[in-house]
Amino acid sequence: MGQEAANQRQPIGVFDSGVGGLTVVRSLRKTLPGEDVVYLGDTARVPYGSKSPRTVEKYSLGCQQFLLARDVKLVLIACNTASANALPALVAASPVPVIGAVEPGASSALAATRNGHIGVIGTLGTVRSGAYATAIAARDPHAKLTALACPLLVPLAEEGWIDDEIAVLAARRYLSQLFDRDRAIDTLVLGCTHYPLLRDVLEQVARELAGHDVAVVDSASAMAEVARELLGSAANRRNVAGRLDCFATDTSRLDELAPRFLGEPLTGFELVDL
Ligand code: DGL
Repeated sequence: MGQEAANQRQPIGVFDSGVGGLTVVRSLRKTLPGEDVVYLGDTARVPYGSKSPRTVEKYSLGCQQFLLARDVKLVLIACNTASANALPALVAASPVPVIGAVEPGASSALAATRNGHIGVIGTLGTVRSGAYATAIAARDPHAKLTALACPLLVPLAEEGWIDDEIAVLAARRYLSQLFDRDRAIDTLVLGCTHYPLLRDVLEQVARELAGHDVAVVDSASAMAEVARELLGSAANRRNVAGRLDCFATDTSRLDELAPRFLGEPLTGFELVDL
């Protein structure tokens, strides 16, 4: 077998602190349906969003090591907090390419904005890292970024309260902070892998606060696109759906939560210790 064919057969590795990263797998399976995917959710140690950069880096390296041991050809960090705090360490420790969530999200936001003011919402760890500000400034020094931590949105998405009154109230309370300035944002980055589930509510509330449509971008689809470009001829383009093997460090509530994020039924998680 030639090297290219061998590469095509290797799976793509994806990890997250929990189940939110399955929104990235969902996009990946749309963009590259023939690829096999190995997913790891570090559900025993979730959330990463409230932990220090050092801890997030240490946990993320452990997750990546697990995927590399399964011979993946590419690693996707399907967690904004891990991407924002651990990307350099993960890249340095990996013999295969590593795609984080921040850079693709920042590029999509810059492509979408018209007035140059972008808002990003995420966990405390993502906002505190300043990673989105750095990524955006590197691409366009004139663009303005306002970053806002929205810690209540992760539990809402997990609870499945994604289109009711409580979700609207939480979204309104948080997002109003992005619209009461001279130059209101015209583009909102969902800088957390849980937030795509709340997309409709966030879009609706942002429109109501701005008085016009606000572009909402998430890193999930942008990451899948980067993976497709990066793999090029090493992508598996067969016509049958690839395998999805899911692992987790704790399996509590996964049967209930995981399909919500993946958008399709799944066969289950294998419990692993890192
Ligand atoms: N996966 C995390 C992120 O995208 C959210 C959940 C957590 O705090 O671990 O930032």
